[in-house]
Amino acid sequence: MTLATTERFAMWLRWAVLNGVPRAALAVQARRGEPLARLLVGPRRGGDPDALVEQIRVRGRLVRTPLAWATADHSLCRTILRDNRFNVTNTENMKLPAPISWVIRHTEPRLPHPAEPPSMLAVDPPEHTRYRHPVAHAFTPRAIDRLRTRIIEVTNDLLESLDASGPWDLITDYAGPLPAEIIAEILAIPVERRPRLLDRGENGAPLLDIGLSWKVFRRGMKTLRDSGREISERIDQLRTEPGDDIFSHIIQNGNLTDHELATSAALLAGAGFETTVNLIGNAIVLLLQHPGQLAMLLEDPGRWPNAVEEVLRLAGPVQMTSRTAACNLELDGQHLRAHDTVVLLLGGANRDPAVFTDPEMFDITRTNAKEHLAFSSGVHACLGASLARMEATIALQALFGRFPDLRLTGTPTSRGLATLKGFRGIPASADRKMSSATRT
Ligand code: HEM
Repeated sequence: MTLATTERFAMWLRWAVLNGVPRAALAVQARRGEPLARLLVGPRRGGDPDALVEQIRVRGRLVRTPLAWATADHSLCRTILRDNRFNVTNTENMKLPAPISWVIRHTEPRLPHPAEPPSMLAVDPPEHTRYRHPVAHAFTPRAIDRLRTRIIEVTNDLLESLDASGPWDLITDYAGPLPAEIIAEILAIPVERRPRLLDRGENGAPLLDIGLSWKVFRRGMKTLRDSGREISERIDQLRTEPGDDIFSHIIQNGNLTDHELATSAALLAGAGFETTVNLIGNAIVLLLQHPGQLAMLLEDPGRWPNAVEEVLRLAGPVQMTSRTAACNLELDGQHLRAHDTVVLLLGGANRDPAVFTDPEMFDITRTNAKEHLAFSSGVHACLGASLARMEATIALQALFGRFPDLRLTGTPTSRGLATLKGFRGIPASADRKMSSATRT
């Protein structure tokens, strides 16, 4: 066998154990109507995710399913995320059968995968602390301030381009380019390479789901390989000639290996881009579907930050995560065994009627909207939460301020993913444009 054939076979084998087998198991359970399985196969094959979450909620606070435990309960999700008897879910913590673990270990492609070790998202302390610390420290108040200036500049440039064109797809023309540009700034990605980020995000986002098809998995891996190559070149450059960007600070502060750095960069790119585009897109659609709420915002722009919290609550970009029991334990009257996995339905927790009155209602004046778990909780709580809030608030206020009669010209198309909730396209147009003097 040639090297290329061997590599391809190893990749296929890895896909087969990590995705092919779970895919088949999910398909069987989904056909039997099991709501968690239907949720995990995604809305195209499984049906309306919000309705499926409610089916799980009515079964109990902590539900055992043939696949894993699941909860849509706000208090339990928060407890589990902050309980050190739980670890992150990765192939080691799950204690898979020996032959499967062997395949996973021996087919490791050493690509910068945002959701596999050594990504901070997929490891536990103390390793987690070593990866998270330098990244958290690079987001200094000065760095955030500079990003704020850049967000305003990029937003204004995008609005100028919208002014000169139309009708639009507000994902491709607005919600996507803003976070892509900001992540490019953070990672010091050269200007000529920035347009590729949108495609890379599209191909990389499904990697957060389980049970991928071979085609989607292969496309995701190719994307990781291409970005990995570019990130490595960038790390070499920034090690010798550091800039004042956030990635240079991470490289200097962290004492991380090149592979660990590349994985942190891939995580920042994925976590920072694919989530924020969905937050802005989900907000645009919710506001266009609720003109009364939009009118309140146009009247009193001071309400924008709470409106963003309400979008995070009702249509958060990350709908689920999971944790794996580190030992045998009792929780909510149930006995969990070491290595059992619990799927935490964050989107469900954010609609928990015990915490949110009329949880299905979109209400930008909701006083406790900020109690959502859209950014998770505990040691893995989102590092980019304040940046995401800032991007969304500036982008939305500026868009609706400039085009107060913005309207949908077709049905927004869903991305069709299980973990991420968002739109692939939002067709829209506007007749009336406010003059630039009235702009944000
Ligand atoms: C609306 C936008 C965003 C949402 C909804 C979101 C959501 C999340 C969630 C739910 C987690 C934790 C998952 C878990 O506990 O298993 C997470 C982690 C993370 N997010 Fe975000 N995120 C957003 C934007 C960003 C941005 C803009 C960045 C950075 C530029 C970022 C960087 C990270 C990182 C580095 C982690 C890993 C933290 C850790 O494992 O310690 N996120 N995010």
